[in-house]
Amino acid sequence: MSLAQLEQSILAEVAKASDEAALEAVRVAALGKKGSISERMKTLGAMSPEERKEQGAALNLLKDRVAEALAARKGLLAEEALNARLAAERIDVTLPARAELKGTVHPVSQVWEEVVQIFGDLGFAVAEGPHIEDDFHNFDALNIPPEHPARQEHDTFFFNEKQDGSRMLLRTHTSPVQIRTMLAEKPPIRIIAPGRTFRCDSDMTHTPMFNQVEGLVIDEKTHLGNLKWVLHEFCKAFFEVDDVKMRFRASHFPFTEPSMEVDINCSWEGGQVKIGQGDSWLEILGSGMVHPNVIRAGGHDPDKVQGFAFGMGLDRICMLKYGIPDLRAFFEADLRWLRHYGFRAVNVPTLAGGLS
Ligand code: DAH
Repeated sequence: MSLAQLEQSILAEVAKASDEAALEAVRVAALGKKGSISERMKTLGAMSPEERKEQGAALNLLKDRVAEALAARKGLLAEEALNARLAAERIDVTLPARAELKGTVHPVSQVWEEVVQIFGDLGFAVAEGPHIEDDFHNFDALNIPPEHPARQEHDTFFFNEKQDGSRMLLRTHTSPVQIRTMLAEKPPIRIIAPGRTFRCDSDMTHTPMFNQVEGLVIDEKTHLGNLKWVLHEFCKAFFEVDDVKMRFRASHFPFTEPSMEVDINCSWEGGQVKIGQGDSWLEILGSGMVHPNVIRAGGHDPDKVQGFAFGMGLDRICMLKYGIPDLRAFFEADLRWLRHYGFRAVNVPTLAGGLS
């Protein structure tokens, strides 16, 4: 076989190799110790010097061209392999997550979202405020002056005194968001403010950090009837019952006048609480018509606008709705508890699709 024929047959083999292993076999068959080109190299020794010079140069050129062809083919095969792998491992991230997904949504996050959905449907926006508050927003502006006994009841976490003698604090309720919203917006105002709150208190039913949701409506003609209707609609939607009886009990909060605590009816039959059935009462929230002093502190004229407010424990209504007995378990991050009481991440609560 002439060198030209040898080259042709090797290059044909290279072109035919369909994967890296086949290509390596072609390389060994040509350039390996016992390969066709190496065998020819071995015959150089028996040649005359002129012949050797000519054949040697020709063989080296052949070797180079074969090596080049091998490298080019190798690059092409690698690219094809990568493309095939990319196609095979393609993931459509728009598909729904796998059903056996292990992580769950915490019941409080679930309830938070449910509350936002329900009030959103009633035309309420979601407002926020900082966890670290000052005296003005957490107390003074809410008609709780420094000597007011309500300050003691709040078991406040204070930060160290600043140079001017004032102290920041961890907000003890979500009510300061009422003030922040009034100072920032013009009526009509219709907001809820779900969020973390903090009190130096810990037992079966109290944790140092807990969650509340505040509600605030300020408008020209808002009255107590509006408050009752909104809370009734909320309770029916939240507890997913056709009707629920409500009891508005006269109470006292510094930031509302009149103030009412609201109970809903329930039954304890079979040791389980059922909302909207039976003759027992459960307290679920505090509410009232916003005190003129609070409207003034929020930058508005109490002779021109009025409104109502309410505050609810998110953890508490979560325990009631989902039959969770111990509040402390909410914050212990026990995986078994989370798997038992948690919600599937793909089931986002909506009014149309169902809340729970
Ligand atoms: N801020 C009250 C608390 O933490 C709850 C509350 C009661 C809020 C009555 C209100 C309200 O807006 O009107 O205990």
